[in-house]
Amino acid sequence: MKQIALPAAAISLAFTSFAAQAAAPSVTAENLYQANCASCHGVKMEGGIGPTLGKHTWLHGEPTKANLIKVISKGVPDKNMPAWSPALTAPQIALLASYIAAGAGKPAVAAPSAATAAAPAAAKPAADGIDLSGFKLPKGFHISVYASQVETARSMVVSDSGIVYVGSRKAGKVYALVPRADKQSADVVTVASGLENPIGVTLLNGALYVGEIGRVIRFDNIDKRYAQKPSYEVVKVSLPDDKWHGEKIMKAGPDGKLYIPVGAPCNVCDTDDTKSAKIYRMNADGSGLEEYARGVRNTVGFAFHPTTKALWFTDNGRDQMGDNTPSCELNIAPKAGLHFGFPYCHGGVVPDPDFAKGRTCEEFVEPVAKLGPHVAPLGLTFYTGKQFPEAYRNNVYVAEHGSWNRTTKSGYSVRLITLYGSKVVSDTPFIDGFLRGEEVVGRPVDVVTLADGSMLVSDDHGGRVFRVTYDGK
Ligand code: HEC
Repeated sequence: MKQIALPAAAISLAFTSFAAQAAAPSVTAENLYQANCASCHGVKMEGGIGPTLGKHTWLHGEPTKANLIKVISKGVPDKNMPAWSPALTAPQIALLASYIAAGAGKPAVAAPSAATAAAPAAAKPAADGIDLSGFKLPKGFHISVYASQVETARSMVVSDSGIVYVGSRKAGKVYALVPRADKQSADVVTVASGLENPIGVTLLNGALYVGEIGRVIRFDNIDKRYAQKPSYEVVKVSLPDDKWHGEKIMKAGPDGKLYIPVGAPCNVCDTDDTKSAKIYRMNADGSGLEEYARGVRNTVGFAFHPTTKALWFTDNGRDQMGDNTPSCELNIAPKAGLHFGFPYCHGGVVPDPDFAKGRTCEEFVEPVAKLGPHVAPLGLTFYTGKQFPEAYRNNVYVAEHGSWNRTTKSGYSVRLITLYGSKVVSDTPFIDGFLRGEEVVGRPVDVVTLADGSMLVSDDHGGRVFRVTYDGK
């Protein structure tokens, strides 16, 4: 590792980081896999951005140790499988190859889906297999299931007629949640399928815009057509389509433009001179594409402040610096042209051990809130509804998807960030209980408000959308 001046805390943490682990004789194939591969191939090799590494039709020849060593070392450059030589040593790659070869004939065990998740047998209040009494909310708030079987539900947008459009990840679908007569729950209609991780959804001029990894598509007049497998137009916009951090949320801004990010195609790499690690904006027809912000590693959540109209966004911190650094960020970009630090400075205060190269954190915009390491903040919203009590209004709610590689899991929560103007006053749990002991029952992705002031939270793990209401009792 390169020696540069580091704060003492960062040095001691570096010893628990991947680089140090890899040198220790005790490193296992499982550790190597989780640290380097799970983000794309799934924690249980069930697949994600990359294919499953369990039983499937192998793309690069029979899964023999020799073939696996070859594909892991060289990668598949034009298909977003990184080359792991020399980042990993030959013995490490051989260890991984044996490990994958051993499981290659068996179907990978995916995370339990909504349908198979074990429901606790006893007579606890349950809805669609989930024990709702395991959630913790402040007094007077209640949580229920608004819609289920919304497989890999990601970001959401609410139309004027109360239909909620939901993007998805692996499912490749866009859904419409159509309120039932009771307004307490919704029917799920598939608007489109076969798309490439269409996580981003936003509405502009009556059209639904959807961000896939490689393109932006538009469904005109969507509220009238959602149930008829509507056709779509491809919006002309040329942005990188790397798969690593390549999923694209989208949001229509108060200026009538579409805001869209491009993540860094790596854990950490120098991206300043590339089109990656930036936020862009463009006109509704895709023209006038311009860079809006830079130094943004991987943002998966945008919201515009209800009065200042400034863009607030979450950003996910880098990995492999240990369990406790750097922090994930909540940022404000009130105008174009700001730099938020990646890859030089993380969380506003941690110089990158390899990329800082004489740059200092003072050069960059500091986050308005440091949300904690590995919590994976995704969607956020300003609650301007009237149903919640005064103290809960005009504050920010952030969905923390939860850590995937931290020794002790963190995140798995919807947080309430209270504000004084544009200053952050506190960061406290609003909904806990997505993590119960070591068991993950849900992973929050996005937060929106319905016209009645209730709040919806999407969950891509359980394929559900929850609804939070307040009745003061
Ligand atoms: C950034 C995402 C990403 C990461 C990280 C990643 N992979 Fe991949 N991997 C892919 C993609 C995408 C493919 C499919 C390439 C193709 O379509 O040819 C792939 C393909 C493979 C294959 C071939 C599968 C087949 O069907 O033939 C193997 C083996 C593999 N990866 C192993 C690994 C290992 C081991 C690691 C960690 C050291 C790793 N990958 C990390 C994205 C990734």
